[in-house]
Amino acid sequence: MKLTDTLAELLKKVKKDIFDVKEYNALMSLEFRILGRKGELAAFVKRIPDIPLDERPQAGQQLNAVKKELEQLFTDKKKVLGLGKKTGTAFDVTLPGTQQPRGHLHLVTAAITEFEALFSQLGFNRRRYPEVEWDYYAFEALNMPKDHPARDEWETFFMSEKPIGDMGRMVLTPHTSSGQVREMKKRSADGQPTRMINISKCYRRQIDISHVPMFHQIEGLAVDKEITMTQLIGVVEYFVKNFFGQDRKVRFRPFHFMFTEPSFEIDVSCGLCAGKGCSYCKDGWCEIAGAGMTHPNVLKAGGYDPDVYSGFAFGFGVERAYTMKSNMNIGDIRQLYSNDIRFLEQF
Ligand code: PHE
Repeated sequence: MKLTDTLAELLKKVKKDIFDVKEYNALMSLEFRILGRKGELAAFVKRIPDIPLDERPQAGQQLNAVKKELEQLFTDKKKVLGLGKKTGTAFDVTLPGTQQPRGHLHLVTAAITEFEALFSQLGFNRRRYPEVEWDYYAFEALNMPKDHPARDEWETFFMSEKPIGDMGRMVLTPHTSSGQVREMKKRSADGQPTRMINISKCYRRQIDISHVPMFHQIEGLAVDKEITMTQLIGVVEYFVKNFFGQDRKVRFRPFHFMFTEPSFEIDVSCGLCAGKGCSYCKDGWCEIAGAGMTHPNVLKAGGYDPDVYSGFAFGFGVERAYTMKSNMNIGDIRQLYSNDIRFLEQF
């Protein structure tokens, strides 16, 4: 077979190989095998002296043309594989990739998730009730008659709509206790006891180092035939020890709420100063919750017979509780809503 014919055949075969090759390294070794100093093309050059003199110029030209074409094909394919053009080195597949930045839940969402998990271990199911609520559920059904001064505690935002019958005006829920009677009505209608938590937004007209006008509360409510105060204390202690840490202390301070009797405020020893007293807590204790035994009038409004049923309820401030968590050092609760990514990224 003539040299020019074998050369044409080689070109055809190598073209196909270049087309088929999928990896940069394989492409490089193919190039070396064909165009290298001792490669297949070089072998042809060596055979030139063997061919008749008059055919040599043509063979030489053909060899050059094939070499040029192949060089171009190799260069193009290297570009297609997208690698090594600049440095001439192969891509190292074992190098670590570029890491995508990963965010995390907002601290309040993280707190809510944690609350939900802790209380579900005690059999409290999460419920959701309206954020824009009737005066009736926010106050009246909770044993706070119209114009009662106890209402002043909840610096309420009222909607501008006119009042409607017994429901009264609409308000932005000033506390999650508004869900209590809604929940009881639903459960008592089926002759069932109640054990729920209601975590949601609350609104009050106040803002300072430890208050924001829109915040979150978690309400717990249990109603059944033999609910006692011991159970309330047990549930609160379980929560405090598991959420804040075993070393945190809890204290029940007698208080007054219209919808519980007896009532308490619950304090946790401050995590910033370990109970010594600081600008955040003042006396070493931080108030986190209100609680008590459900008032008979509230049970009645919820459809339960107070002579048969009893209940307890508690309400924690979510932001407040989270800032007091052991390893957190947030001195000003407003920072949680400052929408500053630099602040949030610290956690
Ligand atoms: N709703 C009360 C508050 O906002 C807290 C509370 C809840 C008190 C349940 C007693 C029982 O302060």
